[in-house]
Amino acid sequence: MLHFDHVSKRYPGGSDVLADLSFSIAEGELVFLTGRSGAGKTTVLKLSALIERGTRGQIVFDGENLARIPLGRIPFLRRKLGLIFQDYRLLNDRTVHDNVALPLIIGGYPQREIGSRVRAALDKVGLLDKEKKYPLVLSGGEQQRVGIARAVVHKPRMILADEPTGNLDPDLSADIMALFERFRQVGSTVLIASHDLQLISRMQSRILRLENGALAEDVS
Ligand SMILES: Nc1ncnc2c1ncn2[C@@H]1O[C@H](COP(=O)(O)OP(=O)(O)OP(=O)(O)O)[C@@H](O)[C@H]1O
Ligand SMILES: [Mg+2]
Repeated sequence: MLHFDHVSKRYPGGSDVLADLSFSIAEGELVFLTGRSGAGKTTVLKLSALIERGTRGQIVFDGENLARIPLGRIPFLRRKLGLIFQDYRLLNDRTVHDNVALPLIIGGYPQREIGSRVRAALDKVGLLDKEKKYPLVLSGGEQQRVGIARAVVHKPRMILADEPTGNLDPDLSADIMALFERFRQVGSTVLIASHDLQLISRMQSRILRLENGALAEDVS
């Protein structure tokens, strides 16, 4: 589903953040990406979603070489993805409902389907009662869960999540991880960047550990 083949990444003016990184994630897997701060976790997710481009090497997602995707086709790639950002990126002048509806509106879903899909996604993250609120009146953990609902509302092929439990208490974090496992069971491939090693170790999933931009460990 997602293949990194000898990928390096250097940001302008910097040194190599990723150096000769190779790994493969098969369809239907749930994989954690760990490593200390600055190891390159967010960079891996950004390259996978074409938010950034690699400097060397090849990245293949769902059979497509990302380096060969023309600008105009990037929106089609993104429709196959559910992105959960470290900093939520909600639209603060739109309600929770409208934030979650965004991928459906962009994807051209019929209006009559949107309401029920949005409510189903909000129900999954336990925020059905916040549908009409604006993001800024929610707690950090609630905003994070709105971001998760928005990422999964269009049932993406692959979910890329950057520290999705960073602002949640341990109980809620475990609930959210269980939710990702359910998304996997119903057909999504899931890649989660997280440094919550305690939580990860309880999930019995594959773990990729980055160190200095390379793969230090791949444990199933
Ligand atoms: N846009 C950028 N321009 C220049 N350097 C960057 C940029 N984004 C990230 N970096 C650098 O790349 C390295 C890896 O960053 P990245 O965000 O991928 O790490 P991370 O593993 O996600 O860290 P954290 O756990 O703190 O989120 C860091 O040294 C960072 O300073
Ligand atoms: Mg990061």
